[in-house]
Amino acid sequence: MKGLILAAGHGTRLRPLTYARPKPVIRVAGRPIIAYAVENLLEAGIHDIGVVVSPKTQPDVAAALEGHPDARFTYIVQEDPQGLAHAVRVARDWLGEDPFVMYLGDNLFEKGVAGLVARFQREHPSAAIALVEVADPRQFGVAVVEEGRIVRLVEKPQTPPSNLAVAGVYAFTPEIHPIIADLKPSARGEYEITDAIQGLIDAGRRVLGVPVEGWWKDTGRPGDLLEANRLLLQGMSPGVEGTVEDSELLGPVVVEAGARVVRSRVLGPALIAAGAVVEGAYVGPYTAVGPGASVCDAEVENSILEERARLEGVRIYGSLLGVAAEVKKHAERPQTPRLILGDLSRVEVPE
Ligand code: TTP
Repeated sequence: MKGLILAAGHGTRLRPLTYARPKPVIRVAGRPIIAYAVENLLEAGIHDIGVVVSPKTQPDVAAALEGHPDARFTYIVQEDPQGLAHAVRVARDWLGEDPFVMYLGDNLFEKGVAGLVARFQREHPSAAIALVEVADPRQFGVAVVEEGRIVRLVEKPQTPPSNLAVAGVYAFTPEIHPIIADLKPSARGEYEITDAIQGLIDAGRRVLGVPVEGWWKDTGRPGDLLEANRLLLQGMSPGVEGTVEDSELLGPVVVEAGARVVRSRVLGPALIAAGAVVEGAYVGPYTAVGPGASVCDAEVENSILEERARLEGVRIYGSLLGVAAEVKKHAERPQTPRLILGDLSRVEVPE
């Protein structure tokens, strides 16, 4: 069985973070989102992994996937991302006649995908689709299930026929390929995987709906990244391998090797990644300080600081700082922020 991770989207909802880098390489709880996908596929026994990238995203995705000696990666270039089914069509030759698991590179599953893969291999359906009960299914693909079989799928319905949303992992036999080859673009101009699955159902094939165990997170928007960060930090086992001096660590805290925490208070769940420096600072719950980032004379809670981000002399909450982004105090005009912001950046200042 092969794995196919999709990492070629535009990530428009996460701009400006995704102007510089693709969504699946953004770090949550200190690691690129796509690294969790790889681990989950390996855990399910899948080592042959195709990664769908765009020419622009390939170098960053390849860098984020270093350090998985058990995985064999093949990069498949999707020049112009035109939908999830289009990504499968582009990967058609590499997939050959093998069954495969398609995994959206920006999705996170607490309990991985081994359960879904095991059911697919045991029950031999034409497809097995991960489903999650959600309060408001209108923004998802929605499934109607009868005795464990999906009998109908609707993409983003105004009046949802059930509360079962399609989550970002799917197992397919090669029967899906001729259906995708005949697919027409949807009203929004994309080749929809839900339409392809509906094609399987219409052809009388058996499509299983498999409930997701544990939490599932689709990291489409900034708030989703912070929530995923909270969920992952919450489940992390604490450990201190870096240097901690004159500091107080309370609750589950990870200080990775090569990180330094000096004259500071860190309240877990929190992660201080390799090479990061926390000095004279307070790092509050649900914060991930990325590799080489620094928090000096500053306070931060419920936030993600990417690699080499810097925080100096300020207090922030619920924030996302991209790679090498800086927020620091200046003394020229008290109370007046000075900003250098890229397109679509967002700053919220207190009243
Ligand atoms: P989406 O979140 O549906 O799309 P996107 O990443 O382009 O984001 P936005 O809607 O904010 O513009 O994609 C889910 C995952 O699938 C994501 O990791 C990108 C990947 N993808 C592809 O690889 N090829 C595609 O054609 C599409 C649409 C998505």
